[in-house]
Amino acid sequence: MKDILAELEARRDRARAGGGERRVEAQHSKGKLTARERIELLLDEGSFEEFDMFVAHRCVDFGMQEDRPAGDGVVTGWGTINGRMVYVFSQDFTVFGGSLSETHAQKICKIMDMAMQNGAPVIGLNDSGGARIQEGVASLAGYAEVFQRNIMASGVVPQISVIMGPCAGGAVYSPAMTDFIFMVKDSSYMFVTGPDVVKTVTNEHVTAEELGGASTHTRKSSVADGAFENDVEALAEIRRLFDFLPLNNREKAPVRPFFDDPQRVEPSLDTLIPDNPNQPYDMKELIAKIADEGDFFEIQRDFAGNIVTGFIRIEGQTTGVVANQPMVLAGCLDIDSSRKAARFVRFCDAFEIPILTLVDVPGFLPGTSQEYGGVIKHGAKLLFAYGEATVPKVTVITRKAYGGAYDVMASKHLRGDFNYAWPTAEIAVMGAKGAVEILYRSELGDRDKIAARTKDYEDRFANPFVAAEKGFIDEVIRPHSTRRRVARAFASLRGKRVENPWKKHDNIPL
Ligand code: HXC
Repeated sequence: MKDILAELEARRDRARAGGGERRVEAQHSKGKLTARERIELLLDEGSFEEFDMFVAHRCVDFGMQEDRPAGDGVVTGWGTINGRMVYVFSQDFTVFGGSLSETHAQKICKIMDMAMQNGAPVIGLNDSGGARIQEGVASLAGYAEVFQRNIMASGVVPQISVIMGPCAGGAVYSPAMTDFIFMVKDSSYMFVTGPDVVKTVTNEHVTAEELGGASTHTRKSSVADGAFENDVEALAEIRRLFDFLPLNNREKAPVRPFFDDPQRVEPSLDTLIPDNPNQPYDMKELIAKIADEGDFFEIQRDFAGNIVTGFIRIEGQTTGVVANQPMVLAGCLDIDSSRKAARFVRFCDAFEIPILTLVDVPGFLPGTSQEYGGVIKHGAKLLFAYGEATVPKVTVITRKAYGGAYDVMASKHLRGDFNYAWPTAEIAVMGAKGAVEILYRSELGDRDKIAARTKDYEDRFANPFVAAEKGFIDEVIRPHSTRRRVARAFASLRGKRVENPWKKHDNIPL
């Protein structure tokens, strides 16, 4: 018996050693942790239960039968994050560059199937040279098996991808179908075709970092939802995000103990809106003052800053926030911000996370680049997402809510449950200047007349009361009591049940 136990331990030690000391050192020298070190940091201490530690590839080409390391380049299993269950795979770059073989894929599929069956999220730590070149089509088949599971799991269990090394070719499409992608600065990149192919085909000279590094994907392409300085920070932040999310689409997000009075008043909010309507202010200040303990996990912070998205808690309950940001492009909606917010709203709705919308929007951004780029279709994504969402929806208009953008931003007409406005709100088809220029074109030469017309328009429309008279605004609230009002609104909606009509699926304007 002793011998058998010793044999087991010896085999385990060999599997845990991955690609050996030299390759582990090479991994460390790039500032990267190993697959197992990452799992240790991600999960609660001692909670990891590994599957398939001894799985080895079955390839017999290119002399591969002589080299069959246990585990085959990916560590898989389950564990807990702050006591809540999660399935994890972590690619081991020290074994065949973390490349994906048929058996490597089968290991990932096994934990994805279990995650679906048992209703727990999947976190993938990606660090891979892509398809295992020696295995050819068997590897491509393996990828497609993973893709199919990503699709089936979408909207059933949260899926999070962390890119912690290379992720190239078709391999990018598994993370692309998960709910969130995070990257590590300077040590990760994602692209469909690498710099060499780009040079050959388009004659563009570009580095891997420029083509698909964290900065590119968080600022330009919006493929990634955030980037972190190193592996340690990335894994700590994933734990923080995980705490906001439910385990699956049939469970509510966890309720955290909170030490922040839901009745808290914030007198400073009464002066948040500047006297000059064209002067910006920071909407993130309002988010922080509504949130429990000011805690805000922002999604896509570096992309489309004219809209802010992320998670807060109110009375301990996870709440998704979508907020126009007057500091960037005056907070207007455009292609990028519509896409960003639409995806976020749909995530929240899929996982029963209530949505708080903070509105200060002067309209859609005009211009040929917007129209040629299809702002009609992209703006419609956000409209569609809000309209189909059945989760509790609370909206606060702080200042401008003009035109179509008023409708889009979780208005009463899109089944908003509580639509509040601050007394500073201006709810109208457009701002006074634009309106007067259209309505009184013939008087444009006469400054005094135009000034009087503008004042008239402002008195009549630059307020929340016309909308409130019609019941489109449920209540005009004082800014300092926003947290209290919003908290009470969400509390009253905990039993909300709305069902959309049966359909196979909708046809959101993609
Ligand atoms: C098998 C691989 C591999 C792969 C790397 N290795 N990629 N083995 N299949 N795809 C092995 C190397 O042979 C090496 O083995 C070890 O991993 C580390 O690789 P290095 O090249 O030494 O590391 P580095 O210099 O850091 O470069 C990493 C890399 C490079 C940029 C990822 O290895 C690379 O370009 N690999 C090929 C990438 C690729 O073209 N993949 C196919 C993409 S297409 P030793 O024994 O020396 O340690 C694809 C299609 C998917 O993925 C389609 C799905 C639908």
